[in-house]
Amino acid sequence: MTTVITLRELGATAAEDVAAVVLACSPGTLQRRFFLPGRPDPWDVLARYRRYLLAGPPHGVALVAVRGRAAVGLLNLVAAEARVAELGIMVADPWQRQGIATGLAAWLRTSGRWQGWTVRAVTQADNLAARALLRRQGFRARHGLDHGEYHYELTMPAPEVA
Ligand SMILES: CC(C)(COP(=O)(O)OP(=O)(O)OC[C@H]1O[C@@H](n2cnc3c(N)ncnc32)[C@H](O)[C@@H]1OP(=O)(O)O)[C@@H](O)C(=O)NCCC(=O)NCCS
Repeated sequence: MTTVITLRELGATAAEDVAAVVLACSPGTLQRRFFLPGRPDPWDVLARYRRYLLAGPPHGVALVAVRGRAAVGLLNLVAAEARVAELGIMVADPWQRQGIATGLAAWLRTSGRWQGWTVRAVTQADNLAARALLRRQGFRARHGLDHGEYHYELTMPAPEVA
């Protein structure tokens, strides 16, 4: 099922959207997103990663998916070096498997802003959802399993012409 969402690029004042997404995530979702041990507490995650989750241009982008009035998903892209950026995506549990991460990830291409950039993402080996998402977007694993993780990469192509 695909759900209708709006994508909103965050400014420095949109911390409440980030908080809403993080607080709606289960410990399992936060664990997979941030590679944390145990059952992460959402307030700890916010305190620890707030600056990263809100990072905006010129060194990255924070893009929130909004359904109705609720912030339900968050994409973070943060530049690591020249024309290389690290991607992280999370969707709050009640809204998973409805195409929201696909909508967020597709924006990387349709925006045209990251064309020619190398975008990288890391998933745990058993994270079937993230692996399916990345493969669908054209990412390829750079090599085999590495310490229980897959490292994916995509050189962002030009936006498709309709
Ligand atoms: C990974 C994640 C972002 C996917 O979000 P989502 O909105 O549910 O994803 P979508 O609905 O757009 O589905 C994307 C693809 O993943 C597949 N998928 C989604 N959940 C799945 C699951 N639990 N098991 C297997 N495949 C799954 C979908 O079928 C779809 O594949 P398709 O296009 O071939 O049909 C979400 O599960 C999540 O937040 N996980 C925890 C954080 C995380 O792992 N982030 C990635 C590391 S950066």
